[in-house]
Amino acid sequence: MKLFVKTFGCQMNEYDSARMIEALRLSGWEPTSDMARADLMIFNSCSIREKAVSKLMSALGRAAAVKRRRPGTLLAVTGCTAQLQCDWLVKRVPAIDLVLGPDRYAEIVALVQRAQARQVRVTDRVGVDEYDFLDAHPLQGEPGVSTFVTIMKGCDNWCAYCVVPAARGPEVSRSAPDVVEEVRRMVGAGAREVFLIGQNVNSYAGVKGGFPALLELVAGVEGVERIRFTTSHPKDLGVELARAMADLPAVCEWLHLPVQSGSTRVLSSMRRRYTREAYLEKVALVREHVPDMAFTTDFIVGFPSETRAEFDESLSLLRAVRYDAIYSFRFSPREGTRAAGLPDDVALEEKQERLAILQAAQAEITAERLGGHVGQVRQVLVEGGSRRGGGQLAGRTRGNITVNFAAPTEGEGEGVGEGVEMGVEVGVKVGDLVEVAILGAGSHTLEGELAPKE
Ligand code: SAH
Ligand code: SF4
Ligand code: F3S
Repeated sequence: MKLFVKTFGCQMNEYDSARMIEALRLSGWEPTSDMARADLMIFNSCSIREKAVSKLMSALGRAAAVKRRRPGTLLAVTGCTAQLQCDWLVKRVPAIDLVLGPDRYAEIVALVQRAQARQVRVTDRVGVDEYDFLDAHPLQGEPGVSTFVTIMKGCDNWCAYCVVPAARGPEVSRSAPDVVEEVRRMVGAGAREVFLIGQNVNSYAGVKGGFPALLELVAGVEGVERIRFTTSHPKDLGVELARAMADLPAVCEWLHLPVQSGSTRVLSSMRRRYTREAYLEKVALVREHVPDMAFTTDFIVGFPSETRAEFDESLSLLRAVRYDAIYSFRFSPREGTRAAGLPDDVALEEKQERLAILQAAQAEITAERLGGHVGQVRQVLVEGGSRRGGGQLAGRTRGNITVNFAAPTEGEGEGVGEGVEMGVEVGVKVGDLVEVAILGAGSHTLEGELAPKE
């Protein structure tokens, strides 16, 4: 029996999809990338912005067409839209057989069997008191070089614009021994970089000492070369985290620190619970401990009643921090959130213009930041063949920038021969940490060549 899974949204959903696939595989389902041949189609949904939901709806339209041709096929929707809009979903797409909220993934196998056997629609999205994290059971090689590990679920922050607390429920931290055990398992299956994820990792409470203490435990696992994490809420970032980032060699010099707005008035209306000044102080604190820290962030433009002058404060903050990259979004009113009750009074064209201004300013900074790497040697974790082909390899710097580089490879992987230079084997394979001389910069990536070994 074939299983097709399509994932929308954030890293949590990607992680959850991988766990659902593993659980179903253990009960006989075989993953396929061909939806037309699937016996079970799962759409792991996202509601963060309107656009995510419209993408889901067109995908479900295609899935319903598959079902018409293969009537036995089961159609399931999981994730945040499943949790938030179950009734609406089944009304709009009557072909749906199973709706499963994020709190119920531990029961996915049983629920799929129930939907199969009874030929009735099963919906289950009740919150649970005792949340069960689905443990990972990756096959050898499956996690890839870099892999997500969930450390918590849910969010207690209730930012005014955001559906996540309603969709994912309250914060629950996974116990530190469980996290460490999973990290071990992922490394055993081939991972070298561990990407710890949660909506607000700085409020992790699964061990005494919180998130910085967890970082230390994960760094202690043999075979972990690099650690990244996301997302850090600025209000919960403290000196302990800055110190841990400085002290633990495996923790990369990269921090995603969503700011949302550079205006204290807008931040307060967003219920972010920090000011512009406090945010900038956190950035300075981190840079004090790790001077070459690369920052990335999220911005929302056109939040209700945001004036042009307030938007300009976002622009000046972006210039003050000098991010490596930003993710920027037009405000999208979401049902059930506090901001949905505010007038969505910034015109679409105005939102569009602010987004364009912000992105253009960032493009300049990104170019300058990328240019700063040219002529330097950077450590790269090799992740695979470059998307550009041409026998090039690709990996990321510790600062999370993709580098495409030429290097002799070894092994059967890419079908390239072994490189020998003056009698020394210089073959590079996926999972290696190599030194790359950076020769040029594109708009988002770097190019280089393998640096000669000392
Ligand atoms: N937990 C993370 C991110 C959650 S969602 C955090 O605290 O930042 C990812 C990003 O989507 C947010 O950072 C925000 O910039 C954006 N976002 C969330 N809700 C939105 C909305 N209603 N409209 C536009 N962007 C939104
Ligand atoms: Fe949403 Fe705010 Fe929670 Fe992030 S911290 S998930 S933006 S409510
Ligand atoms: Fe989307 Fe849910 Fe993640 S709304 S961004 S999939 S937590």
